[in-house]
Amino acid sequence: MNKFIEEIVKIISREIDLPKEEIKALVEIPPDQKLGDYAFPCFVLGKRLKKSPNQIAGELALRMKVTGLIQEIYSIGPYVNFKVDKNKLAEFVLSQIFDQKDNYGSDNAGKGKTIVVDFSSPNIAKPFGIGHLRTTVIGNSLYHIFKKLGFNVVRINHLGDWGTQFGKVILAYKMWGDENELLKDPLSTLYDLYVRFHQEVEKKPQLEEEARAWFKRLEEGDKEATELWKKFRDYSLEEFNRVYQMLGIEFDSYAGESLYNQFMDQTIEEIKAKGLAEMSQDALIVKLEKYDLPPCLLKKKDEATLYATRDIAAAIYRYNTYHFHKSLYVVGSAQKLHFQQVFGVLELMRYKWAKDCVHVDFGWIKLRQEMMSTRKGNIILLEDVLNKSIQLAGKIIEEKNPKLENKEEVAKDVGIGAVLFADLSTRRNKDIDFDWDQVLSFEGETAPYAQYTHARLCSLLRKYGKSIHQEIDFGVLSTGEESTIIKLLEDFPRKVKASAESYEPAFICSFLVNLCSIFNRFYQKQRIITEDEKSTKARMLLIKAIQLTLKSGLSLLGIRAPERM
Ligand code: ARG
Repeated sequence: MNKFIEEIVKIISREIDLPKEEIKALVEIPPDQKLGDYAFPCFVLGKRLKKSPNQIAGELALRMKVTGLIQEIYSIGPYVNFKVDKNKLAEFVLSQIFDQKDNYGSDNAGKGKTIVVDFSSPNIAKPFGIGHLRTTVIGNSLYHIFKKLGFNVVRINHLGDWGTQFGKVILAYKMWGDENELLKDPLSTLYDLYVRFHQEVEKKPQLEEEARAWFKRLEEGDKEATELWKKFRDYSLEEFNRVYQMLGIEFDSYAGESLYNQFMDQTIEEIKAKGLAEMSQDALIVKLEKYDLPPCLLKKKDEATLYATRDIAAAIYRYNTYHFHKSLYVVGSAQKLHFQQVFGVLELMRYKWAKDCVHVDFGWIKLRQEMMSTRKGNIILLEDVLNKSIQLAGKIIEEKNPKLENKEEVAKDVGIGAVLFADLSTRRNKDIDFDWDQVLSFEGETAPYAQYTHARLCSLLRKYGKSIHQEIDFGVLSTGEESTIIKLLEDFPRKVKASAESYEPAFICSFLVNLCSIFNRFYQKQRIITEDEKSTKARMLLIKAIQLTLKSGLSLLGIRAPERM
């Protein structure tokens, strides 16, 4: 814990009878410097002491005594406000960042605990479209965030590689497919076959029966069906991996829906044995009236098991395999009911850990401009979006800095960063209205803005050229901007924790934008490298601390920070 907060907790606990942990949780950072560096709200004490919170705050402030670290204590309204010794705060924060470097903000809160993150999870034989962007980037960012907090994080790609639709694709491939075409452009080819199947089935309804038979053969492990299915899966994965590579994303497991086929009977037996399953209109269901939800469908009358049944088996498998502390499902809000039902069934099965399963949901994404290069009708491919962004970033770099070395690599970092940031900076529950001009702007709440600021900080460090150390006069860092920057930097570890608690990478985004804008304001007003050696030295330590924090913040979002732009 920050020693200033520790000291404040000590001062408060001398005056009021509350556990230290509780006091610590109440201490907050006020939005305005006038309200001090930290504040303690007195609302909770009102009832107990039978006085107004304002009166309590006033009395407490009078009784509390300043110390070496805390220089001023006063009350405003229902708050007791504290001002800390600015020099000591600067020394504490900057030295810590300088010592910890990339590890600043790390924590061991998650030591010994495992978090499972199910994210991206596209469907094989279907285009990898923009609809899967949010799950992919939010999931990856949560991986980085929890990792930073010391958790063991398992990334699972729950591939949509099972279900009756594969009977249709196999049949269609056997009727109209072509191996060469499949090799050239697997996902589009398979998707075309799937679409064609649906057109033909209008004229020839018996195809439906045949497709069902193929899926049955697949479920029973028939050689031909399995070989075709495996081919579709491998080819699809190759395409997915191309996108993951562009994004710098990896998985620990590609255990998709097909893995759980082997557990279906056992899972259904267990649900039956617990007295939860019943027949209704030829289907096997679990009633969820207790949760005010429609029943969860386990098995249809044609005996095929369903998405939900596989998710129930997968959850149990994950618990048995990883003994997770939390199991996250990063999936759009459209599947809210599905997860409520799955978690409901797990709870009825009396699995205590059912409460640790979390649906990390999010809103829709919409593109404002037409995507010109889309290969596939009205489906916007993720790969096309990323390539377009890289191309646009390349053009901007060409205009702004034509002499830049390794332009291509930087265009990639910036183009991809821009898409990631646009997505992650939008709170999960909000929809995204994706607008290229905004996404790639070098000003405003964007990755290029943060990356450009980072490159500017690196350029200052290069220009200074001397080594940076902590033996400086911290009192020199006295402008309002410098104080604000130091307090912001001090807040970074708490921001990382808050974003983990709410599964909300957007908190990191707004932190970074804030840090950049205050630094840029400072940079416009003040010269940093001057004749005055004392001030230059101190400011360069500050610059280094901002650069390190910005870089590590971006890395939590999966965004790279080039040193030159
Ligand atoms: N494949 C599904 C889709 O694309 C997402 C799967 C999410 N994960 C899960 N365990 N259900 O919509």
